[in-house]
Amino acid sequence: MIRDQIIVQTPDGAYPIFVGTSLLTQVGKLVSNLESANFSKRCAIVTNRRVGALHAARVINSLCGNNFEPYTIEIPDGEKFKTLDTLRAIYDQLIEAQLDRQSVIFALGGGVIGDMTGFAAATFLRGVEFVQLPTTLLAMVDASIGGKVAVDHPRGKNLIGAFKQPLAVISDTDMLATLPEAEFRSGMAEVVKHGIIGDAELFWKLEVGSWKLEVGDWLPRAIRVKVEIVERDPLEKGERAKLNLGHTFGHAFEKLSNYEMRHGDGVSLGMVCAARLAAQRKICDESFVVRIENLLRAIGLPTRIPNDMTTDAIIDAMTTDKKRVEDHIVFLLPQALGAVEIVDNVTREEIVAVIQATRD
Ligand SMILES: NC(=O)c1ccc[n+]([C@@H]2O[C@H](COP(=O)([O-])OP(=O)(O)OC[C@H]3O[C@@H](n4cnc5c(N)ncnc54)[C@H](O)[C@@H]3O)[C@@H](O)[C@H]2O)c1
Repeated sequence: MIRDQIIVQTPDGAYPIFVGTSLLTQVGKLVSNLESANFSKRCAIVTNRRVGALHAARVINSLCGNNFEPYTIEIPDGEKFKTLDTLRAIYDQLIEAQLDRQSVIFALGGGVIGDMTGFAAATFLRGVEFVQLPTTLLAMVDASIGGKVAVDHPRGKNLIGAFKQPLAVISDTDMLATLPEAEFRSGMAEVVKHGIIGDAELFWKLEVGSWKLEVGDWLPRAIRVKVEIVERDPLEKGERAKLNLGHTFGHAFEKLSNYEMRHGDGVSLGMVCAARLAAQRKICDESFVVRIENLLRAIGLPTRIPNDMTTDAIIDAMTTDKKRVEDHIVFLLPQALGAVEIVDNVTREEIVAVIQATRD
């Protein structure tokens, strides 16, 4: 059942995001009904073993029932396989499957599958259409929206990529039932972030605990925050920077944990630090920091910096982060619900004070 349909305007057109339940069984129909539909029967589904075992059968049946002939490509699970080598294996199988320029590729999985499949679609035969079937909360509220697709390079994440808008995003919230709790929590950090940067009502809903209840109540709101930002800044020239709230500190924590810390956990800690820096600078009230912290804690996200990460190491890790303009580290600081400020003149002393105040 479709609960919401959100249209994303892009420089070249528009695409729909469908949000609802039992949508994987309708993929074939939804895609066949798209205005631009004139697709080859042959199509491909890219997934990994874990997600594929749980959810691919429904997509395959739905596509077969709508005159498509899907070929399933399974790649290994995990960020460490988001590489050019895996991409090459995907190209090999797309050729093997005899896809043509009218073929569609379906990305069934979390952000790793979406990013890699999107990059394959952007480049295979100079570009074929692709559909995002996000299966993690993070992919639903963030990675599947906005057209950024990429693979990692040994020297850094997402260094090889493109902008490629999907034909459609189909977010079936039933997928979240099989998602491990830690992955769900990690996605919730981005949902909270969207509340802070763009939707006070979303933040209030989360504060009263509605994230535990019906996902369909708040997920479309969280999606809309990103949609509105990417519509205004499709090629990441300005406003998209808002989406990096908590990421300057967050990336440093992830890096110092050798990437054992989940991205959402890093963002959670990073948002607390950003809010504290904002309060130190009188950009926001101290009470706002407390509200953000309380909400993150209630969700089960971390709000205290691990003591084995020294202040010097955190600052070193931050200064090699790519969110720099010239030689200044850029911070996004929350002012109030729905308002952030970009600052690039933060001193080392200020950062030290924030880190110390965010320890137990
Ligand atoms: N393109 C963008 O704008 C954008 C934005 C944010 C993040 N990203 C990228 O997204 C990636 C992270 O995405 P992620 O957090 O979804 O991680 P992920 O894709 O690695 O998925 C997390 C884990 O959950 C499993 N999983 C996925 N769906 C499941 C389900 N329904 N049931 C059970 N298990 C399931 C996966 O197999 C994996 O083990 C990163 O590579 C990041 O760079 C991209």
